[in-house]
Amino acid sequence: MAGLSTRHLLGIKDLNPADIQLIFETADNFKTVLNRPIKKVPSLRDVTIANIFFENSTRTRLSFELAEKRLSADVVNFAASSSSVSKGETLIDTVNNILAMKVDMVVMRHPYAGAGIFLSKHVKAQIVNAGDGAHEHPTQALLDAFSIREKLGDVAGKKVVIVGDILHSRVALSNILCLKHLGAEVMVCGPTTLIPKYIGSLGVKVEHNLMKALNWCDVANMLRIQLERQDIKYFPSLREYTMLYGLNKQILDSLDKEIIVMHPGPINRGVEITSDVADSKQSIILDQVENGVAIRMAVLFLLAGQTP
Ligand code: CP
Repeated sequence: MAGLSTRHLLGIKDLNPADIQLIFETADNFKTVLNRPIKKVPSLRDVTIANIFFENSTRTRLSFELAEKRLSADVVNFAASSSSVSKGETLIDTVNNILAMKVDMVVMRHPYAGAGIFLSKHVKAQIVNAGDGAHEHPTQALLDAFSIREKLGDVAGKKVVIVGDILHSRVALSNILCLKHLGAEVMVCGPTTLIPKYIGSLGVKVEHNLMKALNWCDVANMLRIQLERQDIKYFPSLREYTMLYGLNKQILDSLDKEIIVMHPGPINRGVEITSDVADSKQSIILDQVENGVAIRMAVLFLLAGQTP
């Protein structure tokens, strides 16, 4: 069986469409495993993986750890806040010390864009990017596209709108690259200040009117406003943002067709999406979370099969 074309997963940029199909087919098999009474396989026995998180996470950290444990890998977890990073140790020194303890793979989340790329050039382990600043979040995009495929049968030809803070979102960039690889039509929707000027060069449509965007799409992926990455004000108030770009049940029910609603989490209920939409039957938010484990199992399994 042909493997992945990359040794690390630093971004969707590293993957070609055949890689993504291989990850999906492998995740299909692991999803079957996860639905069995015994959810564990011995595939990564004797592989040691370090999860190093320099930024907060709930879904991604737990999902990677569960994926690793379901594959029987040995797992160590590292949170920067309780480590010697707070005493001034560098990223390379930190990781090389972890690798000296015979770690094979590093899953890293970092607030700086390109941190995973930098690390991959300086340490011997395989690196998996679990989100780097406003750059990429490749496993999120894979699990999102996998969830669309599961719900609609295919991603090719489907119309997906990504709504909100595109400028500061690593989920948006990775989703655009992944969905385009798979043949979807992609639109971004939000205030002008939160749509980067280069976005057209990625082959996506731009729409500033939420109703027009929702009437166009099959799937709406509602993003969180990334207040922690906003150094200036990009819109007058959250209340005004919600009035113009928030999705509520009244809007959802007024559309001509039943669209699918997605959100990468964490949700700010009542800002980008109301509770009755997040918890509606059109929402696949918890399916995304469930599929994240199978996708991460597939990524880790396929990367571990690569030769150094
Ligand atoms: N979607 C996502 O990355 O969530 P966390 O920040 O909780 O990992």
